[in-house]
Amino acid sequence: MSATAPQAVNEAKLHEFMMKAVGEMGAAINTALIVIGDKLGLYKAMAGAGPITSAELATKTNTTERYVREWLSAQAAGGFISYDAATGRFTLPPEQALALADESSPVFLPGFFQAVEATIKGIPKITSAFQTGKGVGWHEHDACLFVGTERFFRPNYRGHLINEWIPALGDTEARLKAGARVADVGCGLGTSTILMAQAYPKSTFVGFDYHAGSIELAREAAAKAGVSDRVKFEVSSAKQYPGQGYDFVAFFDCLHDMGDPEGAARHVLETLAPNGTWMIVEPFANDKLEDNLNPIGRVFYSASTMLCTPASLSQEVGLGLGAQAGEGRLAKVLHAAGFTRVRRATETPFNIVLEARP
Ligand SMILES: C[S@@+](CC[C@H](N)C(=O)[O-])C[C@H]1O[C@@H](n2cnc3c(N)ncnc32)[C@H](O)[C@@H]1O
Repeated sequence: MSATAPQAVNEAKLHEFMMKAVGEMGAAINTALIVIGDKLGLYKAMAGAGPITSAELATKTNTTERYVREWLSAQAAGGFISYDAATGRFTLPPEQALALADESSPVFLPGFFQAVEATIKGIPKITSAFQTGKGVGWHEHDACLFVGTERFFRPNYRGHLINEWIPALGDTEARLKAGARVADVGCGLGTSTILMAQAYPKSTFVGFDYHAGSIELAREAAAKAGVSDRVKFEVSSAKQYPGQGYDFVAFFDCLHDMGDPEGAARHVLETLAPNGTWMIVEPFANDKLEDNLNPIGRVFYSASTMLCTPASLSQEVGLGLGAQAGEGRLAKVLHAAGFTRVRRATETPFNIVLEARP
């Protein structure tokens, strides 16, 4: 046995890494503070309020000043809010207000941190899965994952789905406007389904998801949006959902979560009208690992470790595509299932949108 000689530590590099790690420590623990600030309405109460003291914010939000002062100090240290030492007042700048307090803004972020809360709660299950190789299903996570994911994706779908993604799919927009039958598979809380229903009043929609809890919330959301007459939600897996002759099938951020994406693709082919279109929205990724080693790739690989890969491994086949499969790998799955025409219709920094036709 040959022992490896210890490598000399470069002090400057160590210092550089420690400083980076301190930033990460602050960011990591700030997840808890963001979730609390979001839940208690602290960011919302600060938005547009101008400079405010901890006592004023506590009164406004019915919270305790001592806690609020500490939270404000942490937010100021992290650059989430600003602090004026002369007056002892804190301000949420308009840019941060958009990202942290405005649910209708295209950059609203707190949903992401709610989902991170679920990954932290999931640490024991995922640790054990690393050792056993078994999966952890989407449905096995804390409910903050379902709500957090919906709140995080909603601004993205509002911003791109109707204005950019559907118009990029050949004749699909015209068909939806004229009246089409649509299936939204792996629909989660149904936000994408409802957005499409609102945009295309002549079309009918059915959202499918294997997770009963999500389908229940999707039904409530459809009723609230006043579209229940044209939007149904049913508990069903991607390989078994009912119906035939769909003009348009959509999968939003879920194909890679499935254990058998090729089986799901075969089922889409069987249920799609001969001239129908399948849209697959997936996290943005390049084909090679080395080309995904950037901040967005880091977020996706991390979510994939804690959520997507375990979800896939929990189902039959357990292909484990991961959230950074990339177009090449995804297209291979779709071609293997029998789709002959697959192309990248469009993309954003966060998503690839593939169009598949029989
Ligand atoms: C990341 S979430 C995306 C949810 C939703 N499409 C959205 O964009 O907000 C993945 C969804 O896929 C669903 N899912 C996973 N495997 C599935 C399967 N085999 N059949 C149907 N749904 C599945 C999960 O229950 C979950 O709702």
